[in-house]
Amino acid sequence: MGTIQATVNIRLLSKANRLFTGTLGGRIVEVLQNARRAGATEVAITNKDGYVTVCDNGRGIDDFSRLLDLGGSGWEDALESSEDPAGVGLFCLAPRKVTIRSSSKMVTIEGDGWTGLPVTILDDPEPVLGTVLHFEDEPWESSVVDLNAVFCGMQVTVGGQACPKLPFLSDRATPYPELGCRIEVRESQDLDPWHSSCMRGRRYGDNALVSFHGQMVAFDCHPVSEHGLHYLIDMTDEPTGIRLMLPARTCLVENEAFEALKQALELEAFRYLQHRGHHRLPYKDYLRARELGIDLPEAEPTYTVGLLGHSDPPDPVEVVMPKDFPLAKCYRLDSSPELGDESDEANVHLLAAMGTFEEPFVPVNIYPRYDGYSWAKLPTIGKVEVSVGETLYKSYMWSGELACVSSLTITAHASDGRVLSSPVCMAMAIAPPEQASTWVADQVLVTPKAEEHLAPWEIWHHLGGWNDEGDTYESQEFDFEQELNRFWADVVGPDEHLRQSILSSLAAIKPEWKSVTISSDATVTVQYTDGAEKTLEPPPPASSASATE
Ligand SMILES: Nc1ncnc2c1ncn2[C@@H]1O[C@H](COP(=O)(O)OP(=O)(O)OP(=O)(O)O)[C@@H](O)[C@H]1O
Ligand SMILES: [Mg+2]
Repeated sequence: MGTIQATVNIRLLSKANRLFTGTLGGRIVEVLQNARRAGATEVAITNKDGYVTVCDNGRGIDDFSRLLDLGGSGWEDALESSEDPAGVGLFCLAPRKVTIRSSSKMVTIEGDGWTGLPVTILDDPEPVLGTVLHFEDEPWESSVVDLNAVFCGMQVTVGGQACPKLPFLSDRATPYPELGCRIEVRESQDLDPWHSSCMRGRRYGDNALVSFHGQMVAFDCHPVSEHGLHYLIDMTDEPTGIRLMLPARTCLVENEAFEALKQALELEAFRYLQHRGHHRLPYKDYLRARELGIDLPEAEPTYTVGLLGHSDPPDPVEVVMPKDFPLAKCYRLDSSPELGDESDEANVHLLAAMGTFEEPFVPVNIYPRYDGYSWAKLPTIGKVEVSVGETLYKSYMWSGELACVSSLTITAHASDGRVLSSPVCMAMAIAPPEQASTWVADQVLVTPKAEEHLAPWEIWHHLGGWNDEGDTYESQEFDFEQELNRFWADVVGPDEHLRQSILSSLAAIKPEWKSVTISSDATVTVQYTDGAEKTLEPPPPASSASATE
């Protein structure tokens, strides 16, 4: 029986430079990483005549054959288990001409030298300390080097100018020796601008940043539902199972160690919030923290006053919470589906906004995710009724129907026995039981008082409001106001339009007038309040004008 055996085909060498994305940043990372692995503390970069020279003060290269050994590394064993070198980094410079000098040896790799042709190791007439790389490239400007050097732990200079050098984590970081890393949770405002720069340019929403020995990898991670937390992870020299995906090394391998890392991040997030002393986590996260042995305080009471969200404009009539009014005296809407009508939310809101009560009545909206916290347990509003007087006029308007009725009273029954009832000038019609399943249009009820007491946009809110696929907000609002004015005129009666339009054309008469008489021969006589009188004659007909010429 035949056997097969894994081998590496020599053709891979000719494609080795394509193991990299080909960015300048990528080359900087690889070269700085090699210097750091060689124990360098300083790296000097200079740009001259289209060539870049990188000198490090590391321990130098013992075995030049390692340089071109694709997949092989010459680093010590400890580094093998902590950093997982892949033996490909230098190939990011292929197929450029690169001269490497170290101790008293030097090589120049170019052309076929990158793909298998033997390259001669020469004696260096001017031996250097550490390692020097000299190759053709676009200038390694500070603007790109800084970002890749800031957290590498070495002092890097470009053309003699020092690049910024910062610790990736503060001493508040928690060590996780079993994962070979340290973890620190920070809020956006506590991130260094360099951390933010490292996260930028990666996928939107990435909020975890790993410094894999200077190589930055970001991912998105939300172990708890608190926005604005960022996770910084710095690899130590301990052995780790956390691995970068090869060849590009731009993300982490989703292995067991990665899962363990995510668990560690969850724990750290809870510890961070415990230490901060306040949070807005959903109740389930609060229970989860307790399961992990972390006792958090209850979430800060999180609610909005009134029941109609302030999301889409225009705003509804505002519900005001008196100053220092305790949340415990507020009400929530019982949202059990068998209880409510869709309009209950709006009616309870309108009742609170417009009704008059001996004791304040303040309904609040609390997201169900907070159910479980003591502050979220409030008396609830169950049954809601609207008693409606005689219909005076109704008409389709905007995206619903508006009806003017002689009177309106909203009544709400609360679980603590309180019955809240008050006349109001606007309510949403409640679907008659036999039509409950087919009731779709918004049916808004107003009393004549609404014309004076409500702003047009407070009615507009309930009739569909602004449509973001239509005209600008201002022009839609203007159109709605016009429609509403016609509606109010229709409420008065069919002649009201005519009366209003005659009166509006008289508004231009100055000084103040007492009476205006218009006869069918088009003569207008104005009597002013000061007793004066003026007659406005129509112009003579065009034919008689030409006859006098
Ligand atoms: N600046 C340096 N100082 C000392 N030795 C170096 C330096 N740069 C490269 N070497 C040697 O060359 C070898 C090949 O480097 P290369 O970057 O290709 O691979 P690697 O660092 O081992 O792995 P990786 O793929 O993770 O970069 C290294 O293993 C090391 O022995
Ligand atoms: Mg390397």
